[in-house]
Amino acid sequence: MTSTLDNTAAKTSAETELIAGFPFPFLEDRYRYSTNVEPAEQLVTTPAGQWGTAVVDIDCEYRAELDQRAVILAADPTRHAVLPHMAPAAWDAMFTLMRELDAAYPEQMQLRSTGPDEWLWRNGILGIEQHFRYGDATTLPDEPLRYITSQVQEDIALLDQRNDQLFVDAGVVTFAADWSFGFDVGMSFLEIHGPVPRVRREGVITRAHEFLKRLQPHQPYRRTNWTLTIDRRLDMSTELYPEWGPDRETIQLVDDAEFGRRVHLRVEVQHLIRLPDSGAVMFLIRTYMLPLEQLATVDPWRRRAAEVLAELPADMAEYKGIIKYRDRAAQWLRDAAPTPPAPTGP
Ligand code: HEM
Repeated sequence: MTSTLDNTAAKTSAETELIAGFPFPFLEDRYRYSTNVEPAEQLVTTPAGQWGTAVVDIDCEYRAELDQRAVILAADPTRHAVLPHMAPAAWDAMFTLMRELDAAYPEQMQLRSTGPDEWLWRNGILGIEQHFRYGDATTLPDEPLRYITSQVQEDIALLDQRNDQLFVDAGVVTFAADWSFGFDVGMSFLEIHGPVPRVRREGVITRAHEFLKRLQPHQPYRRTNWTLTIDRRLDMSTELYPEWGPDRETIQLVDDAEFGRRVHLRVEVQHLIRLPDSGAVMFLIRTYMLPLEQLATVDPWRRRAAEVLAELPADMAEYKGIIKYRDRAAQWLRDAAPTPPAPTGP
């Protein structure tokens, strides 16, 4: 049996790992939408640690998040869809991710050729050994996109390119931040971004669309997006709004200690990858969350997040669903400033 002391120590080391790998998203004291893409696999050093060297990221939440995904998929089949013309792209996505895992985690993950189109996949963390023939659905226990999303923390959407447009025609998305994959599947990239304020006027989405249509294989790109979330809740899809929506009201009533524990900065690291065989675009969404009370332990993050939240224009705060408590979050962070040491006497 694990003692309370062991539990506390384990929690602390997990917290330390999550802070050290947190992709803090704010480059300035002010945040606006932009086509903020940059080449992937570049190391970013932060005041707390580093992130960014791999396209897929495994951390101490691996098993817990995969378990949550399995429960969500079992309860709601609309979180997974592969339109018939996307079957080749699903294989391409699975295979690309196996290669990425093998490259990033060679000790635990291996993809080996065993013959023409024959492969052995080993995931040492989950104890999986799977022989398969590329493109042959009878050699896998599950549809390929679903199979690989049971082994990565990322959500995945696949976009088909036709008639000079991109369409979200496949995916497994269980951790959506206030949108519905089931509703969006089959929609175009431009339609999906219809509800986002400002971006039409500022050309952000049309530029992103042009950029994505020209994306080349083996040149992955990435961007970040962010919001605030109450509690460590990954699944904030529109379908579950009745479960999480009321928290946006009730969080205003809690005391400061509870506020700092429950309000999280939620950051998505999104990768954009042209798949080499099918030509589809793979969109990976990896979600990270850090409670304000932990964010505040890194002083440059505390100061900057307070500035961004206080300054964010109301239409953006409204769209992000944080309008009712962002001022308090900014003030909470300001109040969490470390107390200067008391002056010592002469
Ligand atoms: C939301 C930009 C790629 C799906 C947004 C928002 C921005 C944005 C600025 C608003 C976010 C917020 O305030 O929290 C971009 C850019 C991209 C990109 C610049 C590429 C360079 C994609 C792709 C997908 C996607 C490939 C495919 C699924 C969404 C969805 C939303 C969203 C579903 C929420 C829309 C809603 O409110 O219903 N995006 N995005 N984005 N984006 Fe993208």
